[in-house]
Amino acid sequence: MREGRGAGNGKVILLGEHAVVHGQPAIATSLLREVRVTVRERGAADRPPPPELRAALDAAAGAVGGVDGSSLHVGIEGDLPIAVGLGSSAALAVALVRALLALDGRSGSTVEIARRANEVEKVFHGTPSGIDTATAASGGLLWFEAGPPPHWEAVRPGAPLALVVALSGTRHHTGRAVGGLRTRAEASPQVYSPIFRAIGELVRSGRDAIESASWPLLGEILSMNHELLRASGVSTPELDRLVEDARAAGALGAKLTGAGGGGAAIALAEKAPDDLVERLRARGWEAFVA
Ligand code: MEV
Repeated sequence: MREGRGAGNGKVILLGEHAVVHGQPAIATSLLREVRVTVRERGAADRPPPPELRAALDAAAGAVGGVDGSSLHVGIEGDLPIAVGLGSSAALAVALVRALLALDGRSGSTVEIARRANEVEKVFHGTPSGIDTATAASGGLLWFEAGPPPHWEAVRPGAPLALVVALSGTRHHTGRAVGGLRTRAEASPQVYSPIFRAIGELVRSGRDAIESASWPLLGEILSMNHELLRASGVSTPELDRLVEDARAAGALGAKLTGAGGGGAAIALAEKAPDDLVERLRARGWEAFVA
């Protein structure tokens, strides 16, 4: 039986989430953790996909064109935690698009795959900037601007980044977090626009700090970005506690990553990221090297 396979990487946003939806740049990096998808014709023993996956499959089939998603079986596997801000929906979207293209004997450039996958992302959360699908499709450390047209380019760190991911233990919903902030920002642009611009400035300084391997400065920038996200109402008490704990455990800086409202945080280690992972685990957090 003919099969199509595809994969997409998870991601963490280093700097600039939310503000990127409002016209500011952001920096993200892919994770080695991924979502893998296999598609094939549905057999008699296969159950049809659940409604949300069916909607994503239909959107992916529409974005790819020339493929009928209605009779397909979708197998999903991978090692990426879901709904915690690590880009699982974008990784799934990229994997689905690649698998459908492969089923149809086609492939696509990274830019094309990211664009098609972003149509699928809209099923999961209304108005994605495109940063998650760009990172899931390209891999590596990226500077991203939503445009239109979207633009992204590789950022070359001056030395390897010692980044740790830690989970707050609560799930999040990207659409709700983005929609809630959009409503507040539209009601009071005079309050929120300067915050988004300040985040944009942190992203620009953050890029310089990454390229020159100025880690203590990057740590300060990460922590300041967290405070602005907290002020914007997208953090939670668990995320704030996790960020505080990461700093107390010796991180140079830490912040929530992704949409917030639950989910994950990142922390910059001074030297070996494994030591910071161990110290976070000792404090009861699930953590791993990014
Ligand atoms: C979610 O990973 C990042 C957000 O900025 C939303 C988006 O850019 O689509 C919160």
